[in-house]
Amino acid sequence: MFDLKKIRANFPILQREVNGKPLIYFDNAATSQTPQVVIDAIVDYYSSYNANIHRGVHTLSQEATDAYEQARLKIQQHFNAKKVHEIIFTSGTTHGINLVATGFTSLLKKDDEIIVSLLEHHSNIVPWQMLCERTGAKLKVIPINQKGELLLDEYDKLLSTKTKLVFVNHVSNALGTINPIKEIITKAHNVGAAVLIDGAQAAPHIKADVQALDADFYVVSAHKMCGPTGVGILYGKEEWLNKLPPYQGGGEMIKEVTFEKTTYADLPHKFEAGTPNICGGIAFGVALDYLNAIGFDTIAAYEKELLDFATQQLLTIDGVKIYGTSTQKTAVLSFNIEGLHPYDIGTIIDKLGIAVRTGHHCTQPIMDFYNIPGTIRASFSFYNTKDEIITFVKAVERAKNMLL
Ligand code: ALA
Repeated sequence: MFDLKKIRANFPILQREVNGKPLIYFDNAATSQTPQVVIDAIVDYYSSYNANIHRGVHTLSQEATDAYEQARLKIQQHFNAKKVHEIIFTSGTTHGINLVATGFTSLLKKDDEIIVSLLEHHSNIVPWQMLCERTGAKLKVIPINQKGELLLDEYDKLLSTKTKLVFVNHVSNALGTINPIKEIITKAHNVGAAVLIDGAQAAPHIKADVQALDADFYVVSAHKMCGPTGVGILYGKEEWLNKLPPYQGGGEMIKEVTFEKTTYADLPHKFEAGTPNICGGIAFGVALDYLNAIGFDTIAAYEKELLDFATQQLLTIDGVKIYGTSTQKTAVLSFNIEGLHPYDIGTIIDKLGIAVRTGHHCTQPIMDFYNIPGTIRASFSFYNTKDEIITFVKAVERAKNMLL
């Protein structure tokens, strides 16, 4: 049973006002809001057992280490990784991608090929361009159709024995398209290429099973999943993580250090140099418990209802054009109003207490494809309501009438 009132009561921020109006938070694809249980876990850590981990014999350090490793275990179970040491804590998705991209420097050679898609966030484009600059490898791009779907026939044409890596997001942050990643992975494996899936936008809505997908790498950020900012994970198959060199040198990632030679720690510590975001990792585990208690099927079904309702309501406004019209979508509504700049609409509706993102959403190639400077993006979460959508659509209409 989905008790929306009870769920909304879990989020203190949803009770606040912005510019004298009740907050309507539709910028969930940028960051989700934080339930009280996660806030409590953060307060509890700093109030009761704040200590460095894996280092001390004292009680506080052991308590913090246990809680942190417990969180890693929860994350392993959530994503169904085969082994707990295949979960590497990172500062977020961008960190995870850069770790893999840097690690592949010594594994690629000139004229090897890397495939990305046109739907990628800049964070899943730029690190690979940098990798190409370092190695002489070439970047190829899977194009999209007007609905914002990947053209898989074109992907087939790009694949060859030269392809060493494929990087695709599970869900597009700008359009909400859910990509057929299982098929993409299988095809890449058929030519011997490894695949990294950027799961940042999928993870709040879809429970990915990395073994069933056969993903080589899967990266997410906690802050999109009701957790805190500054923490995320890289899942990597053990064989790949063993092949990649360490990303950063420092404490915690070594076995033995002498000035002649240093040997590296086993997984996962080899990739976890320095004091990590201990509290963040623990709170990430609590956020996963919270989401799993509601249930990902329940979340997806309700968010789909919100998306369908919002799409239908928004299209009643003359001049609205929606970008990203695949039938396989998460609850992201990217749109423009003919003759108006997205920034102007965003600014006016903020005065009415409504938070949306405007601009290119760190996806300039998608904006170039549609030949637009940006969009207004409303992204919904399971704690949003249809009443909020009605207020939002009225506010957009009001902004339009003010500006035209
Ligand atoms: N990548 C995040 C977004 O799409 C920040 O808004």
